[in-house]
Amino acid sequence: MITSLKNLGLALLFSAAAQAQEAKGLKEYYKDYFPIGIAVNTRSLEGAQADFIKYNFNSLTAENDMKMGPLQSREGVFNWTNADKIVDFAVKNNLKVRGHALCWHEQAGDWIFVDKDGKNVSREVLLDRLRTHIHTVVKRYKGKIYAWDVVNEAIDDDPNNLLRNSKWKEIIGEDFVEKAFEYAHEADPNAKLFYNDYNSERPEKVERIYTLLKRLKDKNIPIHGMGLQAHWSIFEPSREELEYAIKRYTSLGLEIHITELDVSIYKWEKERRKRLPGESDEYTPALQQAQTDKYEMFFDVFRKYKDYVTSVTFWNATDKYTWLDHYPVEGRKNYPSLFDINAKPKPAFWKVVNF
Ligand code: GLA
Repeated sequence: MITSLKNLGLALLFSAAAQAQEAKGLKEYYKDYFPIGIAVNTRSLEGAQADFIKYNFNSLTAENDMKMGPLQSREGVFNWTNADKIVDFAVKNNLKVRGHALCWHEQAGDWIFVDKDGKNVSREVLLDRLRTHIHTVVKRYKGKIYAWDVVNEAIDDDPNNLLRNSKWKEIIGEDFVEKAFEYAHEADPNAKLFYNDYNSERPEKVERIYTLLKRLKDKNIPIHGMGLQAHWSIFEPSREELEYAIKRYTSLGLEIHITELDVSIYKWEKERRKRLPGESDEYTPALQQAQTDKYEMFFDVFRKYKDYVTSVTFWNATDKYTWLDHYPVEGRKNYPSLFDINAKPKPAFWKVVNF
């Protein structure tokens, strides 16, 4: 009952927004530039939400359903239901699909690193499991998923280190990154393969990511692009930082995908979970204006580098729900999208489409 009322509410919301809609969907304005994508779950592909997505976007990413753990929660037991639904929806509606993500230190499924006694498996066993996972998943969607985030977030947060201390690195060694790309390429030689990371425009992190990517290129590892997650904010990155990052990565012959775009109204404080006493989460006109200016600048840069920026994907469709409502600070509302809580275009939308 509660669920169906909620669905009815959402349906009304999205259909009201559809009626009040602008002359064209977002993707139409960018048809001579790049596909405009959105991260989805299976509920977003029903009713009015599905119409909203089809109207505005022409590329899909699974928000969670193609990650390792959700796909293979136990060894050899693959749960295809949700991932299949997303791919079927895309095929039926002529949308592209970016696959996300084949190898990540989070949401990997606890079983993959350990034996039946809970002890770390050997390098050989883990490589074998990684190969099996990647081959099974990539082959299933061969010809339907045109690009994959092969390795997600391998660079450490600590500027003194290159790769983070994940189980992948601990058990396999640093070459787990190249192995993942090789397995993906074996499974679908036509798929475009990406390394994907956050804060990938912060000057010191650009250099560390560049070091990793250059190593891969120098070894002729099949990698075709750099994914900028683009969990950005009204504070960063600057135009200079963004342009520098794009130039640096593309100097290696890689293309750029913007893979998880949102523009938070707060500073990024990864370690903070609690709201401060009296901390407001009001979306003031000044914050909205700062966000509009950032969105305008970001898309201006994307268009300027359209020969290299070949896809732009948003992480949540509207301000009604966003992962940033509960992360990193619990219970603090955020407003990071181009569409407001009623799924209506915000001023930032109009700046992005009027160029
Ligand atoms: C990272 C991952 C995404 C998602 C977000 C949080 O950016 O790449 O898959 O989990 O965190 O929503």
